[in-house]
Amino acid sequence: MPQMTAPQFAARKGSRDKLAVLTAYDYPTARLVDQAGREEGGGVDAILVGDSLGMVVQGRTSTLGVTLDEIIYHAEMVGRAVEHALTVVDLPFPINHRDPAGVIAAAARVLKETRCQSVKLEGGVAQADSIDALVTAGIPVMGHVGLRPQSVHQLGGYKVQRDQERLVADAVSAAQAGAYAIVVECVPPDVGRAITEAVAVPTIGIGAGPHCDGQVLVVNDMLGLTTGYVPKFARQYAALGDEVRRAVGAFAADVRRGEFPPGG
Ligand code: KIV
Repeated sequence: MPQMTAPQFAARKGSRDKLAVLTAYDYPTARLVDQAGREEGGGVDAILVGDSLGMVVQGRTSTLGVTLDEIIYHAEMVGRAVEHALTVVDLPFPINHRDPAGVIAAAARVLKETRCQSVKLEGGVAQADSIDALVTAGIPVMGHVGLRPQSVHQLGGYKVQRDQERLVADAVSAAQAGAYAIVVECVPPDVGRAITEAVAVPTIGIGAGPHCDGQVLVVNDMLGLTTGYVPKFARQYAALGDEVRRAVGAFAADVRRGEFPPGG
């Protein structure tokens, strides 16, 4: 099966076949995420190298410290691992506030230095010129509206965003500027529905209710690997953290008892 492209992803707008997206930050995880479900004709449609890596991989309290070099380091591993899903790379803070030429320079590094296919940019109305410039330069862009973690201090915390008029305007601006899809984070379900109805490209919800065209989760949250705060909306599909604790404890106990390696 050839790798998903941004136009194919965009063409799933309004489809009953909703889009499934997960994050990944390293080669083995990306490989597993990309391969899972393929034999049954399923699997995820896109893999996002999110700047959430600042929190779930680097152990920071926000995404603000992630640098372009760091995200490229992770995206390079993910790009090498993925054969099927569309690959998307977050542009870390404060690249989305540079002028369009600065945004293109950063996004071009992502495409030149990794095998990933597109970038994601937080913002809406204020970022429309940059989105337009990226698309004109041939770089597919996923927008991101609602709770924008890079603006956590301005928003006063990781809070549900309720200003429907502003949020719809942000999404419409991003879509009209050429974004091929839009992440909608942490809004009430009726706002998620209003945004989805207002734009002609797929909306990918995270804590945005059931009406979006797809859903995204942070892979560490859904696998039970996150050791810090996990948002309430993140459904846990496995408890790998517990399994790691059990396995490491068993190894240490075996070594102390002289039961590993065998034959001692
Ligand atoms: O950084 C990230 O992982 C994201 C997703 C939560 C959408 O932006």
